[in-house]
Amino acid sequence: MNKLFFLHEPKINRPEKKNVLNSLNSGWISPSGKNVREFEKKLSNFTNSKLVLTNSGTSALHLSLILSNVKNDDEVLVSSVTFIASVNVILYLGARPIFFDSSEKSLNGDINKILTFIKEETFSTRKGTFNKKTKKRIKALIFTHVFGNISDLSFLRNKLKKKKIKLIEDAAEAVGSFLKNKTHAGTQGDYGVLSFNTNKIITTSSGGAILLKSMQDYKRAQILISQGKSDNLFFIHEEMGFNYGMSNINAGIGLGQIRNLKKIIELKKKIHERYHKNFKDNDKITFLNFEKKTNPNFWLNSLFLKNYDYSKLKKIIKTLNSQGIQVRPLWFPCHKQSFLKKFQRYSLINVNEYHKKVLCLPSSFFLKMKEIDYISNLIKKIVK
Ligand SMILES: Cc1ncc(COP(=O)(O)O)c(C=O)c1O
Repeated sequence: MNKLFFLHEPKINRPEKKNVLNSLNSGWISPSGKNVREFEKKLSNFTNSKLVLTNSGTSALHLSLILSNVKNDDEVLVSSVTFIASVNVILYLGARPIFFDSSEKSLNGDINKILTFIKEETFSTRKGTFNKKTKKRIKALIFTHVFGNISDLSFLRNKLKKKKIKLIEDAAEAVGSFLKNKTHAGTQGDYGVLSFNTNKIITTSSGGAILLKSMQDYKRAQILISQGKSDNLFFIHEEMGFNYGMSNINAGIGLGQIRNLKKIIELKKKIHERYHKNFKDNDKITFLNFEKKTNPNFWLNSLFLKNYDYSKLKKIIKTLNSQGIQVRPLWFPCHKQSFLKKFQRYSLINVNEYHKKVLCLPSSFFLKMKEIDYISNLIKKIVK
């Protein structure tokens, strides 16, 4: 097939173009305006949550830590299998990450191990929970729903609440992922973060959102995204802030995109099922499934290549990319990145295997079944 297959391509339709043009023609191109208000409302209805739109998922993550009162020298638990942004934001605040493992069954965090860490490696006072090793306070935990695979965090949330540790869900990749009871990813914990970067299930070019629970947090987040300004007319700044708002142009794209979100998820499910069917009998490959009893968005499909090592995986990736099939590995583990090696880690086992064996597959929602079969057959030929 003489065609390139990308991992996840955006599709920009007429309504997006119209909204952007209207925004340009009206001169409302800053981080305020009708599109921002309407996209916030639509997304809020869809997720059933209060939220503030931001100019990226990363800035929303940064805000979630500020709202969790994470400060210099505090500690934050975070999975080693996540996009680097979830760790960078901890460092922005002078805080320290503690890396936890992924579960044996999926790339998401191992909840049992997190609970064991809290039980055995921390102590609590009236103020909060402290790391036995460093005596520093653990203020928050960032849990990433990897590739849109949503985990049920109800047990973890209750435990963390008792320990005065805030639960932040990095649901950047999980827009449209729900638990069976219709709870949207990012609404189980104290704060949730979504991303609308170009490769996400819907896009605003660049953009994000922080999902939050209280009106107080909503108001503070609105102030923080606009340089800490609480009075627009007389330039009164309540605290140090950021330029983190989503522009009216980007929100115009989001407003067009969200109309198709349900349809996109239906198509993504079909793609997932087809890949699953194509690889289910292959003894060299396990399909990385999304969790049972959930309704995930099936954002990115991935395979686990048995008996593979990192150099073999790299070779396969290069071969497939040279044949027009864009595949990628899992993120290189955060705890192994040179600037993060000095930070604490707890019982990391699965994460050290996953990055050597996981292959992410083209998953754009408009892929046709015969294209998925073509991609699958090529992979089967190469993975021996
Ligand atoms: C898991 C995860 N966290 C955070 C981010 C950061 O989002 P953004 O690129 O919108 O800043 C991304 C996406 O890029 C991501 O995949």
